[in-house]
Amino acid sequence: MAKGNVLMVCLGNICRSPLAHGIFEQLSKEFSITVDSAGTASYHIGSSPDPRSIKTAMKHGIDISNQRARQFTKSDFDAFDHIFVMDRQNLRDVLKLSQLEVERNKVKLLLKNEEVEDPYYGGDEGFEIVFNKIEKASKDILDLWKQ
Ligand code: 4NP
Repeated sequence: MAKGNVLMVCLGNICRSPLAHGIFEQLSKEFSITVDSAGTASYHIGSSPDPRSIKTAMKHGIDISNQRARQFTKSDFDAFDHIFVMDRQNLRDVLKLSQLEVERNKVKLLLKNEEVEDPYYGGDEGFEIVFNKIEKASKDILDLWKQ
């Protein structure tokens, strides 16, 4: 997998993908790439990340409080080289908007054959689990880029 601009995608763009955005941005500082995040749904457009995501990121030294939620659009297929989704529903929703094979090839689950489950309805510990899964997956991707 070649290095390139990365878009992290979940449903609301307030819990999982803001964490993924912040983590990947922090870990990829040595590369001149754009990292962003978006949601497949429109419910939370303009909102700050969920306070539990902000708190969890801050605990690990990453400030995501300036992020604002936006919805995924077809133009993201042009702007980004890698579109990493958190779960299989996100995968279906993003692929539904694609028109070309080259666009579909950019879309992958962030974790290999595993989902980053939605922590929205659970407690704080769910956010820590999400953080750790995303951090591990991000390091694996960046290790490939460094080879
Ligand atoms: P996210 O979590 O997709 O990780 O941002 C969710 C946030 C909000 C809702 C669902 C999931 N919601 O139903 O409002």
